[in-house]
Parts: sequence; C-alpha cells; structure tokens
Amino acid sequence: MDSYIEKIDFFKGNDIEKIAEEYGTPLYVYSEDIIRSRMRDVAGIITKYPYKANYSMKANSNLEILKIALEEGVNCDAMSEGEIRLLLRAGFKNDQIFFVCNNIDAKEMQFAIDNNIMTSLDSVDQLDLYGSLNPGGKCAIRINPGVGAGHHEKVVTAGKKTKFAIAEEDLEEAIKTAAKHNLKIVGINQHVGSLYMTPEPFLQAIDQFLRIAKNFPGLEFIDFGGGFGIPYHKLEDEEPFDIYKLSIEWTKKLDDFVESYGSTPLFKSEPGRYCVAEGGVILGRVNAVKYNGDRKYVGTDVGMNVLARPVLYDSWHDIEIFCNGKSIRGMKEEATITGNICESGDVLCKDRPMPIIRDNDLICVLDAGAYGYAMCYSYNTRLKPAEVMINSDGSVRLIRKRETFEDIFNSFV
Ligand SMILES: Cc1ncc(COP(=O)(O)O)c(C=O)c1O
Repeated sequence: MDSYIEKIDFFKGNDIEKIAEEYGTPLYVYSEDIIRSRMRDVAGIITKYPYKANYSMKANSNLEILKIALEEGVNCDAMSEGEIRLLLRAGFKNDQIFFVCNNIDAKEMQFAIDNNIMTSLDSVDQLDLYGSLNPGGKCAIRINPGVGAGHHEKVVTAGKKTKFAIAEEDLEEAIKTAAKHNLKIVGINQHVGSLYMTPEPFLQAIDQFLRIAKNFPGLEFIDFGGGFGIPYHKLEDEEPFDIYKLSIEWTKKLDDFVESYGSTPLFKSEPGRYCVAEGGVILGRVNAVKYNGDRKYVGTDVGMNVLARPVLYDSWHDIEIFCNGKSIRGMKEEATITGNICESGDVLCKDRPMPIIRDNDLICVLDAGAYGYAMCYSYNTRLKPAEVMINSDGSVRLIRKRETFEDIFNSFV
C-alpha cells in the first residue's frame, strides 16, 4: 500500500528525494491544490447570508499563500503591524484586513488608523487608547463569550482562564468608554480557541455570542472566530472536521438571530489552521541513528526550531519515511525521532512504532502547514528553512529562501 503522501500524490509526481536534494533540508513543502481547496471550503461555509471568511494569517504568512487566499476570495486577519504590512504587500485592500490585536502600543494602533484598517480592541484599556487616537472613528471589540475550547490549555482563548477579549461583565464599561470618545462599535468578534474536532464547541459559543450581540443593535459585522480542527492522526484514519455539519447548524442559528435582531450584519469567520495545515509538510534528513539502552534514537535536522508544536503543546504529527524517493512501510520498530538542537526536549515523537529507519532516509512530517514555519526561530543559531510550493500544474517553486548566516549577523550593530 502507498503511504498517505503517495496516495494523495502530494508531490504531484515529483521525486521527493530530488526536491530534498535540490532545495536542501529541513524544507517546508506546500501543495497549492490542497491550500486552494481548503480556502474554498471556508469561503463557502455560509451561503444564505452575507458572509466572509478571514484567513487568520498567523497560521502561515508566506506571501504566496496570502496571494492564494486573495485569489480564492478570502479576506484576512492580522495580529500585528508586520502582518498588516505583509497583507498590503500581497495585494489585499485595507477593507479586506481585520486587525485582531492585543496589548499593543499607541504607535502600532496609529499605524492601523493611518492605513484605515478595521481594528478590534480586546480590553477596555485598549479601547480607551484607540478612542484617544481616533475619536469619532469606527472600531470593533473582541468579546469573551465565556466558553473556550481547544486541544491544549495554551490555545484556549475564551472562558475564565485567558488573557484575551472583554468579559461580558465589562461590556457596559466598554460601551461607556466608546461613548466617551464618540467611537462607534460597528463590529464584534470572538475566538474561543484552536483545534476542536467537532463543530459543537463552536456552536455552543455562537449561542452565547449571539445572545450578547443583541446588546449591540445595528452592527455592521459579527465575526465568530476560527479554530476548526484538522485530523493530525490521519494515518489512524481520524475523521476530518465536519465543515458541512458546521455550515448547516451555524446557518440555523443565524436564521434565529436574523429574525429577532432587526438587521442582517455581515457574518465572518477567522480560520487559520484549517486552511493551511494539511497543505504543508516538512522534509528532514536522518543524520544519525543510535540506541540508548532499548530506545532507538533517530537524529534528524528537524529540530524544535523548525517545528515548535510538539514541544509547545505536546502535539502529534504523523511522520512518513522515505528511502531513495520511495516510502518505507512494513516492519515496525519503536523510534524516538529528534532534531539537532542542544536540548533534551528536542523531540518530534517518542517511542513511536515506525518502519525501520536508517541513516540518510528522509522524514516527511505531515500537517505542518499551520503554525510550522510561522513559529520557526533561530535557536542554536540555526537557519530558518526554505519553503517550496508544488504548484497545481506540478511544477515546483521556491517561495522562501533559506535564511543565511548574513541574515542573522546583519542585525548586530
Ligand atoms: C484571534 C484569533 N483568530 C483566529 C485564530 C485562528 O485559529 P485556528 O488557526 O485554530 O483556526 C487564532 C489562533 O489562535 C486567533 O487567536
């Protein structure tokens, strides 16, 4: 049987070994087809009412991926001035960008105001600052609906244990603060957390959020956030997130809301991971294999600096092994796959049944398109990897050069 990567022909007939040799490892490789199809999914979740998906670019901010989002009719969320700058460079217009910031200073806020970017404020203090900089302007506020969700406590962004958003009990204060500066709150947004595998947590939060929304008559938009999961255990046939069910159930809730609200705002979502995770893999080289007692250690160049998720969140990524361009299957032996960073925690997977891995094999880490490159860093003065795109026509294109030592050294004064 083919590996998953071979079955879906991720590399569109290209030789995986040749790609690794030509561009070097560690290497992020993306599938244009998969990314486009996921962008289309999220663009079409709601069809009955005015609706726009905002791709949450924090998941993957490569310029070429942003251009795909733009072509597929998806707007974007930005979390920082840097992200706004990238979106403008990718060709997004200012009204296609939603700035969902937290704890920013006056200078960063002023940048958004100068560029006419709709901004969501996530505390009364930030709203006050915004009002002093842009009196009489329009803005949004981020509301904590009181229920959170997610695969790890570090990615739950609503409920009682989070730094994010304005709690329901502070909304009156927020409204007064806006009035003080003659600010018009034209939109509200929420984001309950990241990576839930069924629509239920999102739907529950919608109930709370829409109840709260009724305190804000005449809103121009209501943004429900993102967090839709993807199956990281696909080699064990984990079911994908049911976006069709989400669409049906969410639309029903909007039916009820629209009937009682008196007007129909633009509805929005903010998915990141769903759009790009499955469209990206990392290729890494096995540089050493050894045993310590009974444990087999497979040493690769995919360190925690290249993929931070396993160390940050104990995240699972399926991993396939290739030798001379062909996947290795069959006999299993437990292996602990590590990177080349000088840390004991630099582990991609622990004691996992794997095919027999040998020196110089390639590892292919699946579902690395979201929060992969975006979270890379240069610890141990290691270079950030290159990124390539497998285009829909099967050609391969470098979309980000590997970092160089000059890039790192240049910032010293
Ligand atoms: C405010 C906000 N919106 C959207 C997202 C995207 O979440 P996800 O990638 O899980 O869809 C995040 C991620 O944490 C977020 O913080």
